[in-house]
Amino acid sequence: MQFFVDSADLDQIAELNDVGLVDGVTTNPSIIAKSGRDFKEVIAQICDVVTGHVSAEVVATEADEMIKEGRHLRKIASNVCVKLPLTMDGLKACNTLSREGIPTNVTLCFSPNQALLAAKCGATYISPFIGRLDDITLDGLELIEDIRTIYDNYGFETKILAASIRNANHVKECALIGADVMTAPPNVIRNLSNHVLTDKGLAAFLKDWEKTGQSILT
Ligand code: E4P
Repeated sequence: MQFFVDSADLDQIAELNDVGLVDGVTTNPSIIAKSGRDFKEVIAQICDVVTGHVSAEVVATEADEMIKEGRHLRKIASNVCVKLPLTMDGLKACNTLSREGIPTNVTLCFSPNQALLAAKCGATYISPFIGRLDDITLDGLELIEDIRTIYDNYGFETKILAASIRNANHVKECALIGADVMTAPPNVIRNLSNHVLTDKGLAAFLKDWEKTGQSILT
């Protein structure tokens, strides 16, 4: 399973990248607005740090304009992946950009049929939003399961990029289902390493080690 960081915070992306946990990055217009940074500048900086795909989202709503924006964004760096909303215009733009060899991430997917359309239009990634479905008491993980089944039924190569991940359980369940990629905020990724028994066990090991009076490096 690939790990993408859902953030435009360069320091946090770089920190996780140094650990070896970053296969790519996703952003959206809200994340960019929250960063207070210049969109193209921040995407360029992230692309310098991360070797995998960095999703940058178009803001036009009409296909021709989306295509223009997508081509423009793609010029920022060779690892830019153009993110498009799951509308008929977004699908049309996805089809055109994909045929040009530009990686695409179709976002705001909330149903299996939407995911089917994205795959038919050649999307590199489909982004089903788990947390936002859970927020309205629907089952986000069931959506991931359904898309996995549909894509496997027909051998679609579009990667399932599980998005809107809010907690460790979402990550575990997506891994069990077989999502190709998951994108989560930096704190969710960091928290995956936490376990009370790890902390307790390490404290005990270090206490016992101290009693030996030994040092590994001398
Ligand atoms: C994914 O590409 C989106 O940017 C993101 O996962 C949305 O998450 P949210 O629903 O927590 O805003």
